[in-house]
Amino acid sequence: MLAYLDSRFLPKEEIRISPDDRGFLLGDGVYEVIRSYSGRLFKAEEHFQRLERSLRELKITGVAVAKLQDIAASLLERNDLRGDATVYIQVTRGAAPRRHSFPDTDTPPTVYLTASALQPPTQKIENGVKVILVPDIRWARCDIKSVALLPNILASQQAKERGAEEAIFVRAGTVTEGSHSNFCAVFDGELVTHPKTNHILAGITRDVVLELCRALGIRVREFPVFENELAGANELLILSTTNEVMPVVQVNDWKVGDGKPGPIAMKLQRAFRELTR
Ligand SMILES: Cc1ncc(COP(=O)(O)O)c(C=O)c1O
Repeated sequence: MLAYLDSRFLPKEEIRISPDDRGFLLGDGVYEVIRSYSGRLFKAEEHFQRLERSLRELKITGVAVAKLQDIAASLLERNDLRGDATVYIQVTRGAAPRRHSFPDTDTPPTVYLTASALQPPTQKIENGVKVILVPDIRWARCDIKSVALLPNILASQQAKERGAEEAIFVRAGTVTEGSHSNFCAVFDGELVTHPKTNHILAGITRDVVLELCRALGIRVREFPVFENELAGANELLILSTTNEVMPVVQVNDWKVGDGKPGPIAMKLQRAFRELTR
C-alpha cells in the first residue's frame, strides 16, 4: 500500500516518523477521514475546509492544503481503490526538541496521508446499533479535529466492553455527540441535534443530513437534546463519515421505540445512498 509523507509517495511500511514528532510526543496535530465511493472522494472540499480550520485554530502553518485533495485522489488511484475506501490525513506541528510551546517557526509540519479499503457496516446501518451514555470529560474545543483523542478512546473502549457500537457523551445533562460520530434524536417528526458549538465536532455527515432533511421536508432543530428526554424520542441516530446514517435501537439497557430503525432513519438512508451512488 502506498502512503504519502512530506511530499513523497512511499510504501507504507517504509514510512518513518521522527520520535521527536510533536504528534507522537504531545498529540499536537489534527486529522481528517474522507470516505470514497467507487473511487471518488465524497465531500472532499468540505473535509479540507474543516482541516484548514482545525490548522488555523491551532496555529499550525505552512501546509499547502489546496494540494492535499489531489494527493488524496492520487492515493486512491495508485492503490487501485476503486470501491469503498477511506483516506486518512494527519498534519502535526512537526519534529522538534520536546517542549510545550511552539517550535521554531522554520519547523515544517508533518503531512501524512494514507488510504485503505473499507468494509462498510451495512448490517449495522440496516438493523441499528446499541449505544451507551458516558460523561463528556473532553476539553472545551471539541470543534477542532485534534489527534489527541484520549477521552474518545476511553469512551469507545467502554462501549466495546459493554457490547455497544458507540459511546454518547453527556455534558451537564445534555447529549453532545458520540466518541466518533454526531448524534440526533427525532421527536414527533422533528430531528433535533446539538448546535455547532465548541462542544461538538461540526460533522460533514451531520451537514449532509441536515441538508437532506430540508430537501425532504423533515423539520430540524439545532438544539441540545436533554438526557432525561431521550427515552421519549421516537428515533435516535448516529452520523459519521464511515457509519453514514446509523439508527440507534438501544441505549444502555433500554430500547428506542419498538427497537427497530424508524421511518426518518430509513428515509434519510435512502436519500444518502442516492447522493453517494
Ligand atoms: C467526535 C466526532 N464527532 C463527529 C464525527 C463525525 O464527523 P464526520 O461526519 O465529519 O465524519 C466524528 C468523526 O470522526 C468525530 O470524531
